[in-house]
Parts: sequence; C-alpha cells; structure tokens
Amino acid sequence: MFAMTSNPAAERAAELRDALNRANRLYYVDQTPEMSDPEWDSLLRELQTLEADHPELLTPDSPTQRVGAPPAEGFAEVIHPTPMLSLSNVFDRDELEAWHRRVSEYIEVDRFDMSCELKIDGLAIAIRYEQGVLVQAATRGDGVRGEDVSANIRTIKSIPLRLTGDDVPEILEVRGEVFFPLSAFERFNAERAEQGLQTYVNPRNSASGSLRQLDSAETAARPLDAFVYSVSEFGGDMPQSHSDVLTTLKDWGFKTNIWNRVATDLDGVEDAFKTAAADRPELDYGIDGLVIKVDDLALQSRLGSVGRDPRWATAWKFPAEQVTTRLNEIAINVGRTGSLTPYAILEPVFVGGVTVSQATLHNADVIAEKDIRAGDMVIVQRAGDVIPQIVGPAPDNKRGPDSKPFGMPERCPVCDTTVVKDGEDVVIRCVNGSCPAQTVRLLEHFASRGAMDIEGMGEKLVAVLYQQGFVADVSDIFKLHARRDELIELERMGETSVDNLLKAIEDAKTQPLARLITGLGIPHLGSENAGLISDHFRSLESLIDSSRYANIWRHMPPDDDGKTKQIASLTGIDGIGPTIAESIRDWLQLGSNLKILEHLKDRGVEPPPIEERDESEQRFAGMRFVVTGRLESLSRQEAQTRIKELGGAVSSSVSKKTNYVVVGADPGSKYDSAVRLNVPVLEEDEFLSFLGGADVELQTPTEESSQRALFE
Ligand code: IVH
Repeated sequence: MFAMTSNPAAERAAELRDALNRANRLYYVDQTPEMSDPEWDSLLRELQTLEADHPELLTPDSPTQRVGAPPAEGFAEVIHPTPMLSLSNVFDRDELEAWHRRVSEYIEVDRFDMSCELKIDGLAIAIRYEQGVLVQAATRGDGVRGEDVSANIRTIKSIPLRLTGDDVPEILEVRGEVFFPLSAFERFNAERAEQGLQTYVNPRNSASGSLRQLDSAETAARPLDAFVYSVSEFGGDMPQSHSDVLTTLKDWGFKTNIWNRVATDLDGVEDAFKTAAADRPELDYGIDGLVIKVDDLALQSRLGSVGRDPRWATAWKFPAEQVTTRLNEIAINVGRTGSLTPYAILEPVFVGGVTVSQATLHNADVIAEKDIRAGDMVIVQRAGDVIPQIVGPAPDNKRGPDSKPFGMPERCPVCDTTVVKDGEDVVIRCVNGSCPAQTVRLLEHFASRGAMDIEGMGEKLVAVLYQQGFVADVSDIFKLHARRDELIELERMGETSVDNLLKAIEDAKTQPLARLITGLGIPHLGSENAGLISDHFRSLESLIDSSRYANIWRHMPPDDDGKTKQIASLTGIDGIGPTIAESIRDWLQLGSNLKILEHLKDRGVEPPPIEERDESEQRFAGMRFVVTGRLESLSRQEAQTRIKELGGAVSSSVSKKTNYVVVGADPGSKYDSAVRLNVPVLEEDEFLSFLGGADVELQTPTEESSQRALFE
C-alpha cells in the first residue's frame, strides 16, 4: 500500500506508524514491552508533527488516533451484518449434560471438542477491518442494530488499528468484550467522587458508560481493555475449529484470553468450570461464568441457532450471589395494562454488583409459595444482569406478633376501582381505562426508546406533565408545542430543555408506523408483532378506518360476520395468533382509542406510508437462503437485502431447512455444509439470473446424496 510512494514524509509516517503499532501490541497485547516510554513518546510526537504538517498523511490506523476524535453529536446506527446473539444458560452439571445431549442428538455425533472460555462481564462489541485496517466498531445494541463507537474503540490500546501477520483477510469482523479492569475501577470511582461526579455502580456499567462517551478523548482517559472471542465475517478460508480461530486472531494482533482451553468431554468442562471459579478472585476483570462452544466450525454451522441463542454454545453461570436483608413492605405497582403486581421494598443492600432496594414478587401465589411477609428477613439474590429476586425468608428469620400473610388488595391502590381477576390467570387488574397509573405508564411507554423514542420524555417528566394536566393521553403529547411558555415554567425545565423536547416530539411525528403501533400499548402486542401489524395496515389512516368499523361492528350481534372477518384477516398475518388478533380487535373497538388515533392524525402524526408490495414480486416467499463468500457484483449485504425484498429469508448458517446457498469466492465452511447437507448451491451469475426472475437449473452438490439421509 505504501510501497508506491517515493515521498519521504509519507515513508517516514508509515515507518513511524508501524513501529508504534508494533510497540503498542508488544506492550498491551503480548505484555512483553520492547520500547521504552521516552522512545515511544518521542516517536509519537514525531508522527503527530508530521501529520499536522501533512494532513493527507493521516490514516485511520495511525496510533495518534488513539487519543480521541472531536466530540460527536450522537452515535450513528450500525446494522450488524449478522445479528449479535446471546447465550443460553446452564447452572449445574445436569443442565450442562442436557445441553450436550441436545447437541449430540442434533448433529448425531457423540463426542466433540468444546472450547471453554471465561465469560467476561463487560459489553459486547463488533469490530470491522477492511484491508487489515480498523474501519468500524459497534456496540451490540439490540443485537440487530448497535451504535457506531469507532472513535472510542480506537482509544483502547489492546485493539489493533491495523492487523499484523500473514494472510490478513480483505474483510474481517471480530466480536469481543470490552471491560474496565477491576484494579482501576475503585481508583477511578474515588476520583469521580472527589470531583463531585456521579460514581458508577460496578465495573461493567463503567465500561459501558466509558464506551458511550460522545467525547472520545474522555474514553481515551479511561483504562478500557478488550478480549476478542470470535469472527463473525471473514473474507477467506476459515480455520477448521474455533480454537484455531482464536490462535489466528492472536497472530493478527488481537488480545485473546490465554486462559481459554479445549475440553474433550463433560468432565473436562467441569474441571474448567471449577478452575474458572477458583481463578476468579485473582483476575483483573469480572467474569460471570464459563462459555462452552462446540469447537468444530462445521458442526457449529450445522447446529445454527434457535431464536437469539446459538445451539452450539452455552454459558455455565456462576451461582448468584446471595445476601440477607429486611423486607420492609410489600407494595403494589399498577402496570400499563392495569395489572397489579406486588413488589418488595427492601432495606437497601449491595448484591451482585449493585445496590438493590426493590424486587418484583410477581403475584400473590409466588409470595404464598415462598412464604414471605412484610417485616421478614429475606435472602436476596442477583446474578449479573438478572433482576434481583427474593429467594425466601432467611433461615434465622423471626416473626413478631403483628406478622401476617400477604393478600392482594381488592381495590386499585391508585384509583380505588374494584379490581378483577383476569380469567384463569393469577393476574389481578384494575379495569378502569382512565386509571392515572395506567395512563402514566402508557405515556412513558409511548415515549420510550423502543416506541416513539422521544428523547427527554422520561418517567419523571411524564409524571409531571400528567399531574399538571398537560397530557391526558398519548395524542396530547403533540399539542404540547402550543404551551411552550408554561412548560418553561416547570421545575427543572427551562428554554433549552423545552425546545429540545418539542423538537424531539416534532421528529417523532414521522416515526415508522410500527413504532407508533408499539407505542399504543395494545396488550400482548410487542414490537416484533407491531412490525407485522404495520405491514398489514400500511398507514395510520387505514388503522383509523379499521377502528371505525370495529366500533360499528361492536354494536352488532356476536355472530356478525364483520367481527369474525376482522379477526380472520388479522390472524391471516404470518406470525399473528388468535390472542394478539383478539387483543387488537378489542383495542380498536374502544371508542376512546379511535379518538386517540384520530387526534394523533389531526395533530400531525404521519408515519411514512408503507409501499404496497406487489405480491407477484414476492417470488422468494417461503425460501431460506444463506449467502457466503465474496460476491463480485454486489456486496453480501446487498444480496441479502434483495432476497428479503423478494420475500425470502436469510439465515447465517446452513441447515436442512436452507433452500439455497449463494456462494461467492472463498466460501469456506458454509459451502462445505451445503455440500454435506445436499442443499442446492447458486453461484453468483446463477443467483443474479434468479433475482432477475429466471428459472435456474440447479446445480446440486457433488457428494453422495445418501449423505443427506444421514442428517434428516
Ligand atoms: S460468544 C453467540 N464468548 O456473553 C455467542 N460471549 O450472554 C455469544 N461474552 O453477548 C458470544 N465472554 O458479550 C462469547 N468468551 C465469550 C464471552 C462472551 C463474554 C458475552 C458476550 C455475549 C454474552 C452472551
């Protein structure tokens, strides 16, 4: 890349970059420093001067970039080329054996090696390299969309800005975990406290907070570190096993965890787990268990994933930390749909890395089963990101004469309406649709990140706006601009906050219909199903029409065709079952809801229309594709988008259910899986004609078709 130039400044800059990057790796990754600090400083200064004089020489892999970029306004969204998955859990040897059995049965192989790795308690990141240079880094986000934190990741010294070694692939995406070293955490927090800044509750939150700084110079000032544990995209031949991948990653300059080991059987895994537990106190990073991965990559690809968890891996978690504290009171929360949920108000106690002062108690049956009462000393546990739980009364708990078993209230604690039991369910509901508690929860939900995403409209502000009569339902949010002056008068508001809020509300008017539907808080309807429903309705207008009809039908006899038809058309949507369909109908039938929809429209809410899809264009409907290798005329992502536009599904691994594997150059193990499973393979030109609507004469893989029977 640099050999072309005969410019001495450029040559010197390249030389300095290489020397500094190498020294950096020896220091932070290999922990065998060779360069002295003064020498490092002097070379870095020389490079900084060169880059200042010749800005065109500044490259993204320059070590000068580790000090941070100018502050950003916000983080751009990154769509992960393959979703960032989570892990299933096991908590003991029996559960581990059950996982092993499921894997064995699925692949029809009894013995397989397992990579055993420490489960680092930090936050997951994906880092992308093109031509060996770090080009992008993203947080996990919801697994599908994350945030672009490239500038911040560049400040982490153990992450290479440029890959070293042989056979560096053209494209590489690695995944790993960023963490805040434990030794630095206490000191860091103490300094923050001294400066009057808010302290972080645990190292994991502080890693997350540090990585999400808009000013990357601030991130650079914090001692973040990272381990890399997998490759998610690779333009080349993958090694055969995960453990070989880790070795290769190390050769390219990544910090992989030297603790990791391969076990050949379950006893080996158990040994590793026990060793991990024993080593835990000595480590300078938090771990919350052992990750166990099927080592053979071809087997991994056959196993694929179920939901968000890969079948080929699981986490053996350490038991949750338990502490004893007093249960001061059992209080009642009224949720968005009116459900009454008891929760515990605890004497605050530090457990599992945070201070816990409340814990959910689910329902009265759970409380009776656990036999807990207000005033008891109880055992509280919390494991990692799991919400705190009350296990039961402490063994030495003593009850006074006033102690009595808990009973659910008969009236809503907020609006005093008599509550009802929801069918066979144990759920108790306040059915007063205008119960203030429900309204406030719904407003919070409507404005939340997962729905209309109105920044600045959090719990506290919603409560104030409701109490002071600014909003009575979600459509009133879009009237707030007319009351700017009054809003400014509110406590803790002021001109800037109000203007930011009003701008966020204005922006929310054009949020996609799916987000609006999510925000309406229709019982049982989560964001995923809201997407399906929005594809069905396509516009706010047609949702309003539907509600108008539903309100007319409501007055007709129950066997009226209209009613059943409306449910039938909703249940006809792939993925929508009768419970959700009924719930939507019930919601649409309420006159007050129709009013809200009409008000939303009148007040300017206008989700972008969803284009009518030509059904005849959905030629790939019901077909499942896997795209692998390097394509010449379009990127892998474009190919996947085209497939989806035509109604097809794209998976990340080849299974018996895959209909076609599209293969580009250097396809690697997915191609092997296609051959083994006898899944038809489309080469790039065939795929292109297929996209264009041609009937393609399919080339099936060459290995014996009898092989297929083996896996069916
Ligand atoms: S493998 C697809 N390996 O644990 C499987 N994950 O609960 C997930 N984690 O989001 C990645 N150490 O952030 C893997 N050695 C390790 C890990 C690890 C920590 C985290 C990771 C993931 C979470 C899943």
